[in-house]
Amino acid sequence: MHKSLVILGSQWGDEGKGKIVDLLTEKVDYVIRYQGGHNAGHTLVVDGQKTALHLIPSGILRPHVSCVIGNGVVLSPKALVKEIKMLEERGHSVVDRLHVSSNCPLIMQVHVALDRAREAARGDAKIGTTGRGIGPAYEDKVSRRGLRVTDAMDPVRFAAKARELMDYHNFILSNFYHAEPVDVEVMIEETLDAVNYFEGAVCDTVDLVHRSRRDGKVMLFEGAQGSLLDIDHGTYPFVTSSNTTAGGVATGSGLGPRYIDAILGITKAYATRVGSGPMPTELFDSVGEHLALKGQEVGTTTGRGRRCGWFDAVAVRHAIEVNSISGICLTKLDVLDGLDEVSICVAYELPNGEVVDYLPTGDDFSAAKPIYETMCGWSETTFGITSLDEMPRGAKDYVRRLNELVGAPVDIVSTGPDREQTIVISSPFGVD
Ligand code: GDP
Ligand code: IMO
Ligand code: MG
Repeated sequence: MHKSLVILGSQWGDEGKGKIVDLLTEKVDYVIRYQGGHNAGHTLVVDGQKTALHLIPSGILRPHVSCVIGNGVVLSPKALVKEIKMLEERGHSVVDRLHVSSNCPLIMQVHVALDRAREAARGDAKIGTTGRGIGPAYEDKVSRRGLRVTDAMDPVRFAAKARELMDYHNFILSNFYHAEPVDVEVMIEETLDAVNYFEGAVCDTVDLVHRSRRDGKVMLFEGAQGSLLDIDHGTYPFVTSSNTTAGGVATGSGLGPRYIDAILGITKAYATRVGSGPMPTELFDSVGEHLALKGQEVGTTTGRGRRCGWFDAVAVRHAIEVNSISGICLTKLDVLDGLDEVSICVAYELPNGEVVDYLPTGDDFSAAKPIYETMCGWSETTFGITSLDEMPRGAKDYVRRLNELVGAPVDIVSTGPDREQTIVISSPFGVD
């Protein structure tokens, strides 16, 4: 049985990672987040009850699972406490099953202020960030001026470091962006208060991961965002600020790459994107509306409408290669039910007339026109089906064609938001 399974998104996020992580944690000891922050919104539905998670790994609803926030995650203590309290109110124990890396860079009020000021300054060229301070927090990490969770363990030193950091940031906020400066003392107090709430969970998570590995524990590494939002391999600059692709597992959790056994790419049966940036298969017609409405494509974190379009097999194949995805889980197949025809983008035409079957960079991608292959749709419902035998012929043909085009086996098909509404064709753990 595979002991270290990675689950990540192969498109622009919101592929249904949370649902699948929750489903698979039945067999898992640890779920580990390794990048991103509370920009993520992962929705779990169990017996009809919906839970939206942003920072806490999607294993938390299973009482036997321990959850780890690895060093690669940018951590907002305030957001974490809010989420812990939400879960506690629903009767879940959290702090005793949560492990937070002492090396996580902190997101504080200043990062949110900078995120918003930068977006406002960009005007029409804005990235459409979630406004959670993710980019500025990663900038502080890379510039080596940022504060980490461990700094908050010593309040006096923390306050001194924070004041020094804020001399710099408030200067930029006031003089460059002409925005309100952030109240340093309030920020320090709020951060320390919040960290205090989960202090018992703070530890060396790299050591924890390796002890668990040596003890033969089963670990699931939960990605946030999607491969096309990766800072290096995505549609730069319209990306998030972390490595959402598989390399991020190693840097963001300390698990060496050779210890990864399998990588499951969560892949929506069509395409969606939130925020700005190119999306060649975006639809502005009644089919786009069908996908948005039937798929309830509204952001879990910001409540923004998601842009919808046909499945982009070129983009997904890129994701399969940069991640070395071993199998895919196709989600939201049911959303395509009832369409007369379904199209798949199989190549792009560039402005110079050249046809390419790979992801072009920069301006070429922005101008790429999709070349489609169109198939018959299906009128029957796939909603909630749990076996391949129940799948209508048209849907089967579609899944088979996607499989051929992207070059990775379809291990799981998801047919509804609930944990149970799933067809497992082949266990991603390598056992049945
Ligand atoms: P994540 O960020 O990748 O975890 O995905 P989100 O939770 O942001 O968005 C996926 C949305 O689709 C959520 O509202 C899920 O409840 C829902 N969902 C997941 N799988 C399916 C599915 O197979 N069918 C339908 N109809 N909804 C699904
Ligand atoms: P999950 O984990 C979809 C997008 C934002 C914006 C860009 C940069 O739920 O799939 P950021 O706030 O990260 O600096 O924003 O990335 N984005 C997401 N889109 N799903 C997400 O997470 C996202 N997290 C960030 O909309 O375009
Ligand atoms: Mg989401």
